[in-house]
Amino acid sequence: MIRINENYRKLASSYLFSEIAKRVAAFQAGHPDRSVIRLGIGDVTRPLTPSVVKAFREAVDEMGRPETFKGYGPDLGYDFLRQAIAEVDFRSRGAEVAADEIFISDGSKCDTGAIQELFAQDLRIAIPDPVYPVYVDTNVMAGRTGPFREGRYAGLIYLDCTEDNGFVPDPPRTRVDLVYLCFPNNPTGAAITRAQLGAWVEYARQSRALILYDAAYESYIRDPSLPHSIYEVPGAREAAIEFRSFSKTAGFTGTRCAYTVVPKGCVAWDAEGGAHALHGLWARRMATRFNGVSYPVQRAAAAVYTPEGQHEARGLSDYYLGNANVIRERLAGLGWSVTGGDNSPYLWVRTGTDSWKFFDTLLDRANVVCTPGSGFGRCGEGYVRISAFNDRAKVEDAMDRFAAADAELKSLADG
Ligand code: MLT
Repeated sequence: MIRINENYRKLASSYLFSEIAKRVAAFQAGHPDRSVIRLGIGDVTRPLTPSVVKAFREAVDEMGRPETFKGYGPDLGYDFLRQAIAEVDFRSRGAEVAADEIFISDGSKCDTGAIQELFAQDLRIAIPDPVYPVYVDTNVMAGRTGPFREGRYAGLIYLDCTEDNGFVPDPPRTRVDLVYLCFPNNPTGAAITRAQLGAWVEYARQSRALILYDAAYESYIRDPSLPHSIYEVPGAREAAIEFRSFSKTAGFTGTRCAYTVVPKGCVAWDAEGGAHALHGLWARRMATRFNGVSYPVQRAAAAVYTPEGQHEARGLSDYYLGNANVIRERLAGLGWSVTGGDNSPYLWVRTGTDSWKFFDTLLDRANVVCTPGSGFGRCGEGYVRISAFNDRAKVEDAMDRFAAADAELKSLADG
């Protein structure tokens, strides 16, 4: 008899963004005349930039000619892309990362979800709360947690991110083996300082722990004092794996390209105390389970590293940061407490009421979609996340609608 993975039964709810899509679809079906503005899932709306499109087209043409056609690509990515990444994203910032430490993939969601299969089952795992749900759910699926009770899975060590710590957790007092960090943060939009990141690297080195550092939103950093990569911190090469994506950097959510950096000095230990390079294990995993990102997509991604590509990508993040500015100013002007949105495309708004109730009311009265904070964890209750990924006119319209529904939204907190 075929049986299911029982761990799936522990999952507390459906995937957050699927649940939102379901509610929005139900609302839209009941109100076909209303135009809904989506500031929920962080999905880009600006098109691919000219130099990316040109490289993409040329690579497709190459695939259509016998003399330049390509079959399977190299397991871990084409060297032209890995070299460009190493140079522009890391060495130019003083972070030592070699091209062969970069693994090209189709998304950071997939990589952050898959990486845990390299590790032992009985790890002590520290996870911030609120957090991008993929880190938690994939560990639940893998059987590394107990049941879900009172908003949390037994067995995980939750790091509370609150207004008191500026939504940046300190290393825990207890020892953990694996830590998930994401900065600029999804969902709160908080950024981590060099000193705070340094404390985490020191903690990981002392306790022989590993940091999984999700830097998918680094291109939104504007404060020059903030680190873009964990490898800007001395010692991080032995203690951290970093995830990056072209999705929010260059508009690739529908095109799919990302990468993971596994430095050769990064090790994990076996039951007898022997050290194993994670680089080799991840290479083995990728070669076995992944067929690579298509050649045209990798060429398109490499175009992001040309001078024009860099300029155009900067234009994209500037545009969304402009939206974030509009959202912050309008909501703050209405008296809402808003953080994030300055080095990040996400804004975190204190609602003072049940986040799903706020979500439903905002959808019903203003026809605007946000993301309920509680979907990211217990500490997200009482907040919603507003994404700056949309067209400027729609963002402005959404803020007008928010203002029109303001009294009712505020009354939720009182009621
Ligand atoms: C989000 O809205 O949190 C992101 O778009 C989800 C993702 O990148 O997978």
